[in-house]
Amino acid sequence: MAIPREKGLDHTLTMLSEGYNYIGSRRKRFASDIFQTRLMGKKVICIGGKEAAEIFYDEGKFKRKGVAPNRVKETLFGKKGVQGLDGAAHKHRKQLFMSLMTPERLNNLKDITEKQWEIAVANWQEMKKFIFFHEAEKIMCRIACQWAGVPLFAKELDRRTNDLAAMIDAFGAVGPRHWRGRTARNRSEQWIRNIVDQVRNGQQHPNVDTALYAMAWHRDLNGNLLDLQTAAVELLNIVRPIVAIGRYVTFGALAMHDFPETNEKLKTGNDAYSRMFVQEVRRYYPFGPFLGAKVRDDFTWDGHHFKKGTLVFLDIYGTNHDPDLWKEPYTFDPERFKEWKGSPFDFIPQGGGDYNMGHRCAGEWVTIEVMKVSLEFLANRMDYKVPKQDLRYDMVRIPSLPKSRFMISDVTAK
Ligand code: HEM
Repeated sequence: MAIPREKGLDHTLTMLSEGYNYIGSRRKRFASDIFQTRLMGKKVICIGGKEAAEIFYDEGKFKRKGVAPNRVKETLFGKKGVQGLDGAAHKHRKQLFMSLMTPERLNNLKDITEKQWEIAVANWQEMKKFIFFHEAEKIMCRIACQWAGVPLFAKELDRRTNDLAAMIDAFGAVGPRHWRGRTARNRSEQWIRNIVDQVRNGQQHPNVDTALYAMAWHRDLNGNLLDLQTAAVELLNIVRPIVAIGRYVTFGALAMHDFPETNEKLKTGNDAYSRMFVQEVRRYYPFGPFLGAKVRDDFTWDGHHFKKGTLVFLDIYGTNHDPDLWKEPYTFDPERFKEWKGSPFDFIPQGGGDYNMGHRCAGEWVTIEVMKVSLEFLANRMDYKVPKQDLRYDMVRIPSLPKSRFMISDVTAK
């Protein structure tokens, strides 16, 4: 069966101008969960929906090596990290990440998160009006470093936060935003390489259950320590995305503002509700647009032929808003998660499939717990005002954020 094809020589500019909706709007137009296009001079097959996610995460069909473009590695990911590994090497490296996600370590993370919000809110009472998003990123940076065992001096906080944030902000960017991300990555890798080096030289003694310890002493399948650069890239794969949670916390604050009835329910202290609220924030608001992989060997899916080496994009944003999977997908409704069966393939803001065997985000539990503590804190432990501002968020800019970055004023602790 022929795959519906978008006509024309190259659609990179259209994709850049349509952002998060590029794949979804074509799936709708072709009335098909699969279509073919040309992006960055290459043939790309775009797929979306639950069944599509299921094949995308079939390791026998797809691989990741050589998929991420250099511009993403130079900013967001770094080189030689877990994202680009396949097979046994991937599973071994992934285990390193998943070993940090024990219930004890997650409880420790929740305690750290709550404490950092308490400290921040005490300071905010002195400030009249400020941009919440920037402050949330700083809180996340402190949480990330403390949890990972990375020493962070007070005077470094702004610089390190700005760099980690710039790496995240660069991932869909061209021009100055991309270059800021590259400089930020170079500086951050140097910072973390020095720290890992100090651990190996006995100048730093992190706790054995921290990411710093784990990355510094991890051995590959041949029994060798990671080279310093790769250890730094992997430690940044813990610290950087915790800072990225600041974006979801900001979207969560926006949801509480835009849908005040949800805020009221958060204030009742119902644990199940706040968990559903967190899930709905991750489903509803735009973050990752799509993921890429390459066909490992020729195969046929749903009558369509996939040729070895073809680049395939999985529509993350569109799958989370797929009307076949989500009733009224553009309505913000945390309680929809009462009905959710927990499939690993229909709700994929942080990828799908299995954590240990595949590439699904290693930090999904971390994200959920940090968001939950943070948003519960916002609802129940502080009062604040939201002055008039432009809170619209862009569906073209990747990654997206409210235009005003969410300004708040008159904070008091409760
Ligand atoms: C992978 C999203 C937070 C660590 C991923 C992937 C996505 C994602 C879409 C790719 C999945 C795939 O390739 O199939 C997010 C979002 C986050 C977040 C939206 C929230 C802000 C975190 C956190 C950590 C983390 C907090 C660590 C503490 C990782 C790692 C991978 C990954 C190590 C690579 C996994 C692999 O290749 O096997 N994330 N993530 N992420 N994430 Fe996250």
